[in-house]
Amino acid sequence: MFQPHIKPFHLAPRDKFSGIIMASSTPKPRLENKVAIITGGAHGIGECIVRTFVKHGAKVVIIDINDDLGELICQELGAELVSFVHCDVTIESDVENAINTTISRHGQLDIMVNNAGIIDEPKLSILDNDKTDFERVVSVNLTGVFLGTKHAARVMIPKCSGSIITTASVASITGGCTTHAYTSSKHGVVGLAKNVAAELGKYQIRVNCISPYFIPTPLALNFCKLDENASVYSNLKDKKLGPQDIANATLFLASDESEYISGHNLLVDGGYSVLNPAFGLFSGTR
Ligand SMILES: NC(=O)c1ccc[n+]([C@@H]2O[C@H](COP(=O)([O-])OP(=O)(O)OC[C@H]3O[C@@H](n4cnc5c(N)ncnc54)[C@H](O)[C@@H]3O)[C@@H](O)[C@H]2O)c1
Repeated sequence: MFQPHIKPFHLAPRDKFSGIIMASSTPKPRLENKVAIITGGAHGIGECIVRTFVKHGAKVVIIDINDDLGELICQELGAELVSFVHCDVTIESDVENAINTTISRHGQLDIMVNNAGIIDEPKLSILDNDKTDFERVVSVNLTGVFLGTKHAARVMIPKCSGSIITTASVASITGGCTTHAYTSSKHGVVGLAKNVAAELGKYQIRVNCISPYFIPTPLALNFCKLDENASVYSNLKDKKLGPQDIANATLFLASDESEYISGHNLLVDGGYSVLNPAFGLFSGTR
């Protein structure tokens, strides 16, 4: 009789009654032996990603324009695990230098997180929007991501591996929630990620976005003129989105658990973007 050659699936022990695979009491760190760069890692969501990656075994390089906060995190977490490189993501030579410094320090770059971002003052009418403000936001949020992606790809291509992740926003798929510049830039990074994912698949490099809903960091609070205790509408009853939720999603896309996911925009919005309040069918029951 034909006997298919089946490789053992795993060697993990099974529960003798249920047959269910038992989790090891000491799970392997999900980013063991990986090196990651986090842009905008000195504060907010980026800082939380840094801490989460270190907890999961990665060596991390923070690149940011806020030297004081960046250095403080390095001191706290230990210089062997986290280092800081001053870098304005809008300046190509800064980005190039940050990537080269990472390679000379660690010999590899496995994960690039393009997270640095800014927002402009809300001016509802497009007639009040200045070209200079528009270009400043696009320069950090889109051109900065282009440069980070380009220089990460430069060192990942020869290794034929890597994961590039960009923090986009729900503004990447919706209109009317933020400024014209911010919405344009966040739509732009998703297009960029899809294009680069299409190109870099042949090198086994994955390129994805994560799109958070509102998180009470100064960036969002200043924009909405709220203080950090303000309750922000969420589709998931009694749940508030926090930086850790984004760090967890980023960890997933950085780790080998997502090895077949590329060109994707992962929404972390509790279903906010699928809800159409105009129909009020389910929102009315809240
Ligand atoms: N907070 C939210 O509600 C929210 C929602 C969706 C998406 N996002 C996105 O998440 C990302 C992080 O935002 P956050 O809320 O943590 O903001 P934040 O202001 O707390 O942190 C942003 C970090 O980026 C750094 N930065 C700014 N300009 C830079 C530049 N030119 N070069 C290098 N670093 C620079 C800042 O110094 C800071 O450390 C942004 O891309 C933002 O658009 C935030």
